[in-house]
Amino acid sequence: MNPSPVIFPKPDEKNLAKHAAAAKALEFVKDGMTLGLGTGSTAYWFVILLAERIHKDGLKVTCATTSTQTWDLAKEYGVPVYPLDEVGVMDIVVDGADEVSSDYQLIKGGGAALLQEKIVATASEQMIVIVDSSKMVEVLGQFHLPVEVVRFGAQTTKAAIEKLLGVSDVKSAKTAFRMKGDEFLITDEGHYILDCICEEIRDPKALNLALNQIPGVVENGLFIDLADIVVVGNEGGDPKVLRRSV
Ligand code: 5RP
Repeated sequence: MNPSPVIFPKPDEKNLAKHAAAAKALEFVKDGMTLGLGTGSTAYWFVILLAERIHKDGLKVTCATTSTQTWDLAKEYGVPVYPLDEVGVMDIVVDGADEVSSDYQLIKGGGAALLQEKIVATASEQMIVIVDSSKMVEVLGQFHLPVEVVRFGAQTTKAAIEKLLGVSDVKSAKTAFRMKGDEFLITDEGHYILDCICEEIRDPKALNLALNQIPGVVENGLFIDLADIVVVGNEGGDPKVLRRSV
């Protein structure tokens, strides 16, 4: 008996822009490449479309993922995934973002995967960010900035982060641990996420460096000078392909 055919999901109306951005990003993928696979509802479409190309056209790629969520998705649809240390330096990582500023700096971590996402992005020759136009902003900070902190002394680390925000070039310095029901959300690496309500982050480069100096902070969701290409999908028409000048 033949195995049942793989059925690849199709986007509904409200996912058309994300799907279009993912499809455009797939045009950058060539046979034999090593890829990083991002996390979230936009990266989801990239994994699905990649799986379809592998299945229908025999495209050969080797992939690492940025979360267990994406690992499981890739496995489910037959995308070859391996631990990052077996893949090494990747040609391209394709990932979503929560905000993209006018100078292509990012806030990521809405899906709590920022640590693995930053490791994979840093280990990739090129980062392609796929978003819909709602993610494009002038100044970062309307989206809460996620900071991954170790569980030991988490309240002490929270106080240190708030103190830093109080003297940083941001509009607001409130924070809140991300919850999952009544429990603290635990990341893939076993940490907490502290969401920082900054409203405006006027100097993301400085804040990125300062946050990562605080003992207890593992990483933060500011992705500075990592995005090379931003693909902005829209519901009709061609996605925009924007390149960060270096
Ligand atoms: C996960 C992320 C995601 O890329 C980001 O939250 C965007 O997700 P979506 O495409 O679902 O809006 O950083 O940690």
